[in-house]
Amino acid sequence: MAAGGCAPSRLQLLPGFLVGLLAGLRAAGAAGARWGGEGSSPHLRSIFLGRCADYSALLSPAQRDKNCTAIWEAFKVVLDKDPCSVFPSDYDLFINLSRHTIPRDKSLFWENNHLLVTSYAENTRRLMPLSDVLYGRVGDFLSWCRKKNASGLDYESCPTSEDCENNPVDSFWKRASMQYSQESSGVIHVMLNGSEPTGAYPVKGFFADFEIPYFQKNKITRIEIWVMHDIGKPKVESCGEGSVKILEDRLEEMGFRHSCINDYLPVKLLMCVDHSTHPDCSLNSAAASIQRKVPSFCAEQSASLIIPLSLVLASVVQM
Ligand SMILES: *[C@@H]1O[C@H](CO)[C@@H](O)[C@H](O)[C@H]1NC(C)=O
Ligand SMILES: *[C@@H]1O[C@H](CO)[C@@H](O)[C@H](O)[C@H]1NC(C)=O
Ligand SMILES: *[C@@H]1O[C@H](CO)[C@@H](O)[C@H](O)[C@H]1NC(C)=O
Ligand SMILES: *[C@@H]1O[C@H](CO)[C@@H](O)[C@H](O)[C@H]1NC(C)=O
Repeated sequence: MAAGGCAPSRLQLLPGFLVGLLAGLRAAGAAGARWGGEGSSPHLRSIFLGRCADYSALLSPAQRDKNCTAIWEAFKVVLDKDPCSVFPSDYDLFINLSRHTIPRDKSLFWENNHLLVTSYAENTRRLMPLSDVLYGRVGDFLSWCRKKNASGLDYESCPTSEDCENNPVDSFWKRASMQYSQESSGVIHVMLNGSEPTGAYPVKGFFADFEIPYFQKNKITRIEIWVMHDIGKPKVESCGEGSVKILEDRLEEMGFRHSCINDYLPVKLLMCVDHSTHPDCSLNSAAASIQRKVPSFCAEQSASLIIPLSLVLASVVQM
């Protein structure tokens, strides 16, 4: 997912100048590092096994029969491979052992808003983005690779797509994204960042290249795009504009029913939790959105309703 996704791995598909900038920043921090990417995460095995146990035993009783030891063993095969020779297919057994169904209408694809997706999905309770599926969860926010010419993990740096295409982290998200996409059904949600200067829909990225092409047309009823704008930041792109238009045209051409919503209210209310005093989060603007759904005969009444925004926000936070 795109899913899913790991922030560092997604960044690697950003245009060159940004990647270069980030690589420069990383290099400055880790003098002499071989690769441009973050080094292997400390405690990788413990985190992986702990997340797997948490997911299968506590979060999703339907996955109780999953064998986390076997899943880890299938995964860790890539830790013995050259860090530039790990292919998506190297994760086939890992996926085979960890895959499970994704509830209908619960899929959430995204680009450039990992943290917002994580908090809106609410740990599978509201929606189930790739990072809330067992095989995505175990790798979320982590990095891993073997040393270039020796055994053991490289904790200093790992290759990005700029260093070599077939690196362990990108290949993981490619394989996981394809699986997630193939298993998604019903209404498909897509959350994009309309404040991203390089465009809300990266025309080269995990969503464009490893998810859209794997959609199963007969299982999908429609696709709903949400373009979210950061509160108080310029609206770089909205529905029907720029790269969002490119995405809409692509879905149209593929024959999907699709729609696009700017600043989808439930997600906007969540964003407003951190900007509760900003005018865009005031009662009037929230009420304006709510009002559209109210029949005209009671519109006047609803406009004068005083619902403290803090109340609305409190209920979002509790959900
Ligand atoms: C889980 O997998 C491991 C490694 O393949 C195996 O040794 C163990 O017996 C399995 N446990 C169960 C309960 O199947
Ligand atoms: C997993 O692999 C086994 C053996 O290769 C195969 O028979 C099975 O269909 C696969 N299961 C899934 C869910 O892909
Ligand atoms: C959207 O993109 C901008 C620009 O890259 C970034 O600063 C912001 O944090 C992103 N918004 C979210 C919700 O991730
Ligand atoms: C890699 O390891 C092999 C075997 O130890 C050694 O012969 C070779 O010189 C090493 N290459 C590099 C680039 O370090």
